[in-house]
Amino acid sequence: MVEISTSILSVKKEESIKKFYDLELAHTDYYHIDVMDGKFVENNTEEMMNEYSTQIKQISNIPLDVHLMVKDIKSYIEEYVPFLPNIITFHYEACENKEEVFKYINMIKNERIKVGLSIKPDTKVEDIYEFLPFIHMVLIMTVEPGKGGQALIPETLEKVKKLKQYINENDIEIDIEADGGINKETIKDVVDAGVDIAVVGNGIIKTEDYIKTIKELKEIN
Ligand code: DX5
Ligand code: ZN
Repeated sequence: MVEISTSILSVKKEESIKKFYDLELAHTDYYHIDVMDGKFVENNTEEMMNEYSTQIKQISNIPLDVHLMVKDIKSYIEEYVPFLPNIITFHYEACENKEEVFKYINMIKNERIKVGLSIKPDTKVEDIYEFLPFIHMVLIMTVEPGKGGQALIPETLEKVKKLKQYINENDIEIDIEADGGINKETIKDVVDAGVDIAVVGNGIIKTEDYIKTIKELKEIN
């Protein structure tokens, strides 16, 4: 059964506490925290995501799935470690070289937090094969990072299939997460491609009944 990580990017401030409670009652598997610095991507959500993470930690034990869309990876790891997230994911494209990728992998691991590595739609999945034995999850962006409510880019699912085949052939224990444009209409293709965790934002937040929506999304197989 696919796990659901609900992106809270489109939650409005005035309704955030109620929405986080509703998501807890609907048994989202994770809260997906989209941290944007206004440099790696145009939007800046750093204040809002810090506030939302604080609120969620006060009302729920459901794990945080932190997605850093930032240039200065080090300082955002330092900012999010105190929230004790389940996983911190950073972007391969934000690193100058492979030494830097390994530096952040080790920095997160040293805090006893799981590590994710994310790639944008135009980045080849082969580019990150060398890191797979050292990380817990690959986050395949199925939209250009930077905002919610975009349409899933179908070609990105070919990358999921290729990655799934590679990790199976090489006996690598790792989760595949997909992020962007996933909803009731697209979730079947996402699951069929081999995704373990689906990030869903507008496909949940904009619906009336979170319990019903998340149940339907999880039941796809
Ligand atoms: C985009 C974010 C995604 C996005 C998902 O940069 O990383 O997590 O918020 O939202 P939807 O599901 O609405 O595309
Ligand atoms: Zn995200």
